[in-house]
Amino acid sequence: MSVLVPTMGALHKGHQALIKRARSMSQDVVVSIFVNPLQFESADDVAAYPRSPERDIQLATLAGATEVWMPDYEEIYPSQINPLKASAIGELYEGKSRPGHFDGVVTVVSRLFEIVKPEAAVFGEKDFQQLQIIRAMDSGVEIIGVPTVREFDGLALSSRNVRLSETGRVSANVIYRAMAAARLAPTIAIAQEIIDTTISTDTGFRCDYAAIIDEENFSLASDLTKHKRAIIAGWIDGVRLIDNMRMGA
Ligand code: PAJ
Repeated sequence: MSVLVPTMGALHKGHQALIKRARSMSQDVVVSIFVNPLQFESADDVAAYPRSPERDIQLATLAGATEVWMPDYEEIYPSQINPLKASAIGELYEGKSRPGHFDGVVTVVSRLFEIVKPEAAVFGEKDFQQLQIIRAMDSGVEIIGVPTVREFDGLALSSRNVRLSETGRVSANVIYRAMAAARLAPTIAIAQEIIDTTISTDTGFRCDYAAIIDEENFSLASDLTKHKRAIIAGWIDGVRLIDNMRMGA
């Protein structure tokens, strides 16, 4: 059975963790690398996306990929694009800040599934909202989530991190610090307050949202019983950072 790991390239240890997980399940691991224009806001953003195909092939192979597939635009969208709509979660949080983004994600993921026909596909919890929206697609493909891989100071690995200034990089783990400090709070009000206070002490961080939600439907959580998660996004040096963490014991 084949396992697919969809990516947009610029691979790092986070992607490699996904590939290793896939390889632990199967001898047939396809890593796709396709910068999907449908999920970006502008053609400039697509053009600016980092590309490192040679290095990607190396990193993917080292992690256990048996095929690195780099389709071109025509292969994914041969004639007319059949745009799909993300589930209702797609309108919230990341979806609110990036209208149409998740529709673009489900459209490309559905094409990748159609072409590769994998039995399973692996995605990162780093993009938790994306993971839940892909789970809701009901594609018949088993969806595996892999925990976020972090730097030594807690910052989630991302291809965007290299765009941070030196001081920006130092304070960028404020998101992680906020969530880690709130994780074992006795009540949701206290957890939210710890998050808000921690991020407000960092003057370089411009917060987009910092909420504690129900993992199932992304509605605001009212307590910290099981399956609640903090989700945070914002900008440092104009670089958008997102992260999340399960709350409660
Ligand atoms: P991309 O940003 O390249 O990410 C590919 C996969 O790697 C996603 O599932 C993402 O959640 C995971 N990932 C990224 N950073 C991670 C980290 N630090 N730890 C663990 N996993 C991490 O997400 C996309 O591409 C696209 O939207 C895609 C699903 C390929 C559709 O175009």
